[in-house]
Amino acid sequence: MQLKDKVILVTGAASGIGRQTCLTLAAAGARIFTSDLNGAGAAETAARIEAEGGRAASFAHDVTDADAWQRVIAEIERQAGRLDGLVNSAGLMIVRPFKDTDFALYRQQQAVNVDSVWLGCQAAQALMAKTAALGKGASIVNLSSILGQKGGSMHSAYCTSKGAVRLMSKALAVELGRSQIRVNSVHPGLVETPLGIGSMQDLISHGVPLPSIEAAVGMVAQRTPLGRMAQPLDVANVIAFLCADESAYVTGTELTVDGGYSIN
Ligand SMILES: NC(=O)c1ccc[n+]([C@@H]2O[C@H](COP(=O)([O-])OP(=O)(O)OC[C@H]3O[C@@H](n4cnc5c(N)ncnc54)[C@H](O)[C@@H]3O)[C@@H](O)[C@H]2O)c1
Repeated sequence: MQLKDKVILVTGAASGIGRQTCLTLAAAGARIFTSDLNGAGAAETAARIEAEGGRAASFAHDVTDADAWQRVIAEIERQAGRLDGLVNSAGLMIVRPFKDTDFALYRQQQAVNVDSVWLGCQAAQALMAKTAALGKGASIVNLSSILGQKGGSMHSAYCTSKGAVRLMSKALAVELGRSQIRVNSVHPGLVETPLGIGSMQDLISHGVPLPSIEAAVGMVAQRTPLGRMAQPLDVANVIAFLCADESAYVTGTELTVDGGYSIN
């Protein structure tokens, strides 16, 4: 895939899908800026890229902080002079019965999963438009979920957030298309990451009758046509495609990466 020398910022880069996306994009030749609230984790991802011969730098970055977004984008412009890609992977999943999801928790879920994407796209769009005008366009990839396409018990705040990311991506795809900035959303099913496994644990602690995390994962695999849960690389490869020149005519789409789980 054509990613060589593209400059790409990935949030949530200390863990799971974000970290794997950084490694996959870097292996294909992209220059990566890693960002995460966990600054040490973001730095570790960047160090792994550099150890493998790639180019990376990191930020300790709270994606809910509008000023921090301005600083991160200004620093990327100073260091690299361009921004070809933005992958919004930072996220939280609150698993809680609706009656127990108080407004503060609901707001926290929207701040980390939705406000962050809004702030990031807004902070990045001028530099991305400038980069896009050099001839190869630019690409924003937002992490939604299959829970942004359908409802899920105990996931009211999370579904609300991921549904918003889905439609925000389409609205921005329409508006930023003439600037040659493509905007797409990716919708994973259950992925083996701290967030994915943690959500199984949360379901158990809120009384869903699952004997163990292993049993819950087994049940998901059983219901999935491809017969297994996803690994971060399954999602990272799709994100890489959406960042690459090969997807030059793909915008406003929602790409489901769930092994067929949600069609079954
Ligand atoms: N794992 C799954 O099953 C799954 C399924 C569908 C969608 N997703 C989505 O994919 C994305 C990545 O999830 P993951 O499974 O890799 O999770 P993860 O927990 O492994 O990684 C999420 C990262 O986001 C960071 N983060 C959290 N709050 C932040 C903040 N305020 N500022 C900056 N960074 C912050 C965390 O420090 C962490 O490193 C999320 O948006 C998630 O909702 C995950």
